[in-house]
Amino acid sequence: MKAIVVTDQAAGTAGMKLVERPEPQAAINDVVVEIHASGFVPTELAWPSTWTDRRDRDRTPSIPGHELAGVVTALGYGTTGLSVGQRVFGLADWHRDGTLAEYVAIEARNLAPLPGDVDFTVGASLPISGLTAWQGLFQHGRLQAGQSVIAHGAAGAVGSMVTQLAREAGAYVIGTGRAADRQAVLDFGAQEFVDLENDALEDVGEVDLVFDVIGGDIQKRSADLIRAGGTLVSIVGPAEARPTNGLAIDFVVESDRAQLSEIVQRVRDGRLRTNIGTVSTLDDAVAAFNPTKRISGKTIIRVRP
Ligand SMILES: NC(=O)c1ccc[n+]([C@@H]2O[C@H](COP(=O)([O-])OP(=O)(O)OC[C@H]3O[C@@H](n4cnc5c(N)ncnc54)[C@H](OP(=O)(O)O)[C@@H]3O)[C@@H](O)[C@H]2O)c1
Repeated sequence: MKAIVVTDQAAGTAGMKLVERPEPQAAINDVVVEIHASGFVPTELAWPSTWTDRRDRDRTPSIPGHELAGVVTALGYGTTGLSVGQRVFGLADWHRDGTLAEYVAIEARNLAPLPGDVDFTVGASLPISGLTAWQGLFQHGRLQAGQSVIAHGAAGAVGSMVTQLAREAGAYVIGTGRAADRQAVLDFGAQEFVDLENDALEDVGEVDLVFDVIGGDIQKRSADLIRAGGTLVSIVGPAEARPTNGLAIDFVVESDRAQLSEIVQRVRDGRLRTNIGTVSTLDDAVAAFNPTKRISGKTIIRVRP
């Protein structure tokens, strides 16, 4: 099969190569999925799991990409809940070969059925951004209707989902980003926009929840805005800053079939809009991951036309 591999961490996305690899076999509780579309987060190349297995042994050349939408072609020993020929989408294990390939072997529990009226390209754009936003807002942030949220990077992949899901849940949403992102953030449903390069974040006043996708100084200044009992949710590593009288939580997203189904149902009925910046083929994927100009939104690889 065709697959994209990485061998050299220092080379970043420029070091990705399209090669031939053997097709994967389904292990216990796995399925093999014929991938129709795949999602990739550029920061994956900085994650240790891209380079090593769970015992920290080198696993290069490894296939990156963790989001997929496709069709089940084989079941492993003991696999239940999915069948051959079924359309699925989901989030692949961090430490196994991933989804920038024609096939992937993946635990069935990491997948959910993809309804027939949802395109594979859309399906592949949802797992990481949708699940991360869902888990950060509702599981870790315990968001309630009527609360206020700062959604950082709200024109980006995760931030646009945070903005929409928080609005739907009845929160007041202040989206942030670069000046050029103002209209996109308001279109995703934020009631206010803060241009982090030109506006004073502090003018926002106190909020109940900050969803941080940026870290550093922005995270520190945001922590100071959290009211007593509020929460700083960070997805960019252990929080360096803590609210004086609230919680700080960092987490890595996990796959969850029920949450994937909730997310895709919202896309079907128009409550949630996905955020795709570019769609490319597998043959052109390396060029797509090394764009010459800024692209907002996810880059999706359409593996099968
Ligand atoms: N822990 C987890 O489970 C988890 C899950 C998903 C993602 N992540 C991490 O979360 C981060 C965001 O992911 P993503 O896929 O949403 O990325 P993304 O699509 O690039 O979105 C990030 C957004 O924030 C903006 N931004 C970044 N720094 C900024 C700054 N200093 N001022 C203003 N705007 C700024 C970006 O603008 P520019 O593009 O112009 O920089 C972009 O619009 C990444 O580091 C990713 O690795 C973690």
